[in-house]
Amino acid sequence: MIRSCIVGIGSYVPPRVVSNDELARMMDTSDEWIRTRTGIVERHFAEEGVSCSDLGLEASKRALTDAGMTPGDLDFIVFATISPDHHFPGTGCFLQAKLGVAPIGCLDVRNQCTGFLYGMAVADALIRVGMYKNILVVGSEVHSSALDFTDEGRDVAVLFGDGAGAVIMSPSDDPNRGILYSELHADGRFARALFMSVWDISRKPFITPDVFSTREIWPQMDGRAVFKNAVIKLGELVENTLRNCRVKPEEIKIVIPHQANLRINDLLAERLGFRPGTFVNNIQKYGNTTAASIPLLLDETYRAGTIQRGDLILLIAFGSGFTWASSLMRW
Ligand code: UT7
Repeated sequence: MIRSCIVGIGSYVPPRVVSNDELARMMDTSDEWIRTRTGIVERHFAEEGVSCSDLGLEASKRALTDAGMTPGDLDFIVFATISPDHHFPGTGCFLQAKLGVAPIGCLDVRNQCTGFLYGMAVADALIRVGMYKNILVVGSEVHSSALDFTDEGRDVAVLFGDGAGAVIMSPSDDPNRGILYSELHADGRFARALFMSVWDISRKPFITPDVFSTREIWPQMDGRAVFKNAVIKLGELVENTLRNCRVKPEEIKIVIPHQANLRINDLLAERLGFRPGTFVNNIQKYGNTTAASIPLLLDETYRAGTIQRGDLILLIAFGSGFTWASSLMRW
């Protein structure tokens, strides 16, 4: 039986570190508020001129090195982001050109915080049907250009950071390795609980100068609704995934949760009865990097030596859409 597995992984964050205190000099917030409400201590911001595909390129090069591959070994690219280089074409095309791998196919996934898991599920299916062998799956974000660093935007601006993560997925017939199960969900009735309305194609023209004097150009979020739904939906998701795979919480070596709020993940871990330390986190250093957060954390956990070949790993995410997803794999 052929399964797809991760044969290379890499991540990259831009060098500039922005502390909570630095944000507190721009808007009415504090290190204490941000730490206690979210767990975030600092995040990285890309410099002017650095795009989402640039961060994705660095992460991809590291994943290729880890896999012992060159760009020429790739058959397909899946690129997950909500901060694309441009509205179109997809950021995967820009990355493909930078990697010099035309004419392989590129697919952009626009599924917010679950984008990377949706992307992995698509790559997994393409590999299992035998269509492609080596697929590069990237999650990358440059949020810092689209955050309102004034008092009005403080509820959202303090949460997000820039970064990228990438994996190479390939087929394997090793029964003790690979993706065992994926679950993908969405509930579009909550699409406006966390969204950015500036690009409104129902308007003619879709954008007018007065839009810039409104809050439409910034992300808008009902933080409490997102928090509440995240805890409920992620709880159901983990229970479903474990039940459908006949796995007990104690059999899972590591849970890699999307990094939106440390309190969400701590609450979940406790409610679901996982051993302390099973849920890993790095939101303290990077904030919420949306599609990049899962590969970034998976890469750090792997490089720290915490994951061994054959370990059961559960990846989970919840975010704008609402969307939520899981992936269970043997490393
Ligand atoms: O990837 C998915 C994306 N997003 C999420 O998962 C976010 C989910 N939601 C959350 O993480 C939390 O709701 C937040 C961290 C966004 C907010 O925490 P909260 O405990 O739900 O705070 P709140 O929205 O209830 O606001 C409490 C107070 C308010 O003041 P009043 O009305 O009590 O006077 C806010 O105006 O905190 C105020 N506030 C801030 N104060 C200092 C909101 N943002 C800030 C800030 N600094 N940055």
